Amino acid sequence: MKIAVGFDHGGITLRETVIECLNELGHEITDFGTDGEASVDYPDYARLVAQAVVSGQCDRGVLVCGTGIGMSIAANKVRGCYAALLADAFSAAMAAQHNAANVACLGGRTIGPETARLILKTYLAATVDAAERHQNRREKVCAIERGEIG
Ligand code: RB5
Repeated sequence: MKIAVGFDHGGITLRETVIECLNELGHEITDFGTDGEASVDYPDYARLVAQAVVSGQCDRGVLVCGTGIGMSIAANKVRGCYAALLADAFSAAMAAQHNAANVACLGGRTIGPETARLILKTYLAATVDAAERHQNRREKVCAIERGEIG
């Protein structure tokens, strides 16, 4: 798959791990930075990665900030982006299967490299569950996004 990646300075600790892991898994990486420890603003990277996924330039995205929280909040502001903050492998599988999350967010200050690897491997191997109940729920999320509910 084509994977868009983005980091802020808080996520830089996992940068090497994420890139190495995606390469090992045979994915093609589009790297939106940052690549250093200088302080940057996570919404800038979240927007670029989310737009790359929503536009179809990339299949999935991976975003890393200190906690993953800022990246997930910002990425989810881009219409069509469904970003999930992941800290364990079970959630990684569910995010892909049940929620059809197209962007995975990780916390560079909250999880270690081995957990990050396991999460990425699990998330990228999982496919969307097409069961009707899940499709209905995902469609309700899209209806909220379109302003049709609430
Ligand atoms: C940056 O210090 C930090 O706020 C950021 O990486 C992220 O954790 C925000 O959610």
